Parts: sequence; C-alpha cells; structure tokens
Amino acid sequence: MPAAARVPRFVQLYRHDDQALKAELSQGLLAAHAALSPKFLYDALGSRLFDAITELREYYPTRTEAQIFQRHGADMAEVLGRGIPLVDLGAGNCAKAGRLFGVLQPRAYVAVDISVDFLQQSLQCLQREYPQMDMLGVGMDFSSRLALPPEAGSGPRTIFYPGSSIGNFTPQQAVPFLRQARAAAAGGHLLIGVDLVKSVELLAPAYDDALGVTAAFNLNLLNHVNTLLGSDFDVRDWQHVALFDDAQSRIEMHLQARRETAVVWPQGQRRFAAGERIHTENSYKYRTETFEALLHEAGFEHTTVWTDARRWFAVWAAH
Ligand code: AVI
Repeated sequence: MPAAARVPRFVQLYRHDDQALKAELSQGLLAAHAALSPKFLYDALGSRLFDAITELREYYPTRTEAQIFQRHGADMAEVLGRGIPLVDLGAGNCAKAGRLFGVLQPRAYVAVDISVDFLQQSLQCLQREYPQMDMLGVGMDFSSRLALPPEAGSGPRTIFYPGSSIGNFTPQQAVPFLRQARAAAAGGHLLIGVDLVKSVELLAPAYDDALGVTAAFNLNLLNHVNTLLGSDFDVRDWQHVALFDDAQSRIEMHLQARRETAVVWPQGQRRFAAGERIHTENSYKYRTETFEALLHEAGFEHTTVWTDARRWFAVWAAH
C-alpha cells in the first residue's frame, strides 16, 4: 500500500507588537540622521515590488545566483550531503529552495518567514509535488534571534540563506547572526548567497533602475509607515536615492525630501529640510576573502565557495 500523503505543519511564533513597532519607528524618525529598518520595506505591496525588482534587467543578483545553483547544484549536494533536512530562512514563495529539492533530496523542509500566512499556499503546493517530504512552516522573526522550535526536529541540517540578504546586515550584525546560523545547523552546513563587489556602473543601476521599480519599492516604505504609525507622509514630497559608498562597500538607499516638509504622527512630529534624508537600507557587497573572514569569525572552519563566470555573486557552503 502506498504511504499516505503528508500535509505541511505550521507554527506561528512571531507576535506583532504594535507598541514596540511604533516606538521603533518614532525613534528612527526623530534620530539626528533619520533611519528606518529595511524590514519596513516589506508590506504586501513592498514584497510584490521586490519580486518585480528580481525580474529587472539591471538587478543581476537573483538571476546570477540561480545560475550558480543550476551549474553547481550537484557539487553542492556532494558537500552538503543528500537527504539532509533543509531550513529555508526568509522562504516566501519557497521557489528557490524548491528548485534545489531535485538535487539535494532533503527528507524534511522547514520554511521560515515572519508569518506562516506567507507560507501556507506555497508549502501546500510543494507538498503536492513531494508528498513524502516532511514539511513545516515556521512564523518567526529570525533576524532578531534565530532559534528553531522543537517541531523542526533535531540533528544536522542545511541552513539555506540565499539572495544576499546577509548584505542587509552590517558586518557587525552579520557575525552574531552567522554564529546563530551555525548553531541552528547543528553540525550541518550553512548554504548562503552573497553579492560581490563590482563596478559602480553595474551596482548603481541595480538599485536605481530605469523603470523606477526600486524607487517605488523604497517610497512605498512611507505608505507602510503611515499605516503602522498613523503618520502623514506624502510620497510625492520624497525621492528615491541610491548611492554606492566605496569605503564601506555598500549600496545605501535613502528617501530624500524634495522640499521642506513636516510629518506628524500621534506620538510626535518632525520637520525635514529640503534635501534631508531618511536612510532605509544598506546592501553590503563583499570581496570573497572578506566574507570568508566573517564566516571564520562566526566559528565556521570549513568553507567551499562557488561563483559565476563573471564573479558577480558567490554561494558558500560553510561548516
Ligand atoms: C533583499 N535584499 C537582498 C535586496 C538587496 O539587494 O539588498 C533588497 C533590495 N533593495 C533594493 N533592491 C533590492
């Protein structure tokens, strides 16, 4: 008799704390150099705009990383081991991990995102394709603390963190995160995608595309903040700015006031002078040796790296 098809399980650990979010937003807006966390870029529309970014001609990371997985997937499976459970951080539509199932053959798949609502549909679809795989969706804010729940089982796993999302942490924030990823791998590997340093001629358009999709993605943060905080930002008073800071090896995204403007919300207010900015995101670009040093600092002793022919992007397996 064929084994019965499984159904995905779900656990929601993250609880939205309205007061804490409001306090964080107020503090960011009132700082001498106003700054808001890039996590506020991702409301429902922001997530769709990010998906659109990944299809832009100028935005090379997603496509280049996919080529690396396609080309070197079998070698990765040799290093990681076949059948090892796969834990996908920031899984979203689970598509990137799903494309690796054929080559890695994980016996279990744990998809982690801030809310299980994002994971329901995609996990149910994947389960139909892989009826015998053990699938779990976890709703968790892993960027503040990465500790998997008991439902995720025990033993070595591959922690999958693609897309150069690590670049949205500062290197100082990245090290403790990588340390937690190493602990979560429980003797298995971290499989991580990282964007590499390249000329500003290639980097700048990737974060300021001709269609203005990245500008819309950045400006939409103000609409999201209005919803969360009750502020009265008018998107038309602001413009998207992306610049490469060579010394810090990072793209910075800012929102810059087009004219003098006042913003009011229930707990506060602020005037912004024309040209004043709100810093919304960093996207660090690494040299292979610099990222390798970061992995070692986080306790990883063995690393294998794969890159594309142009050396634009890299994927590490670290143990
Ligand atoms: C999600 N993260 C890795 C993207 C990046 O490239 O830093 C976010 C992004 N920001 C602007 N375009 C894409």
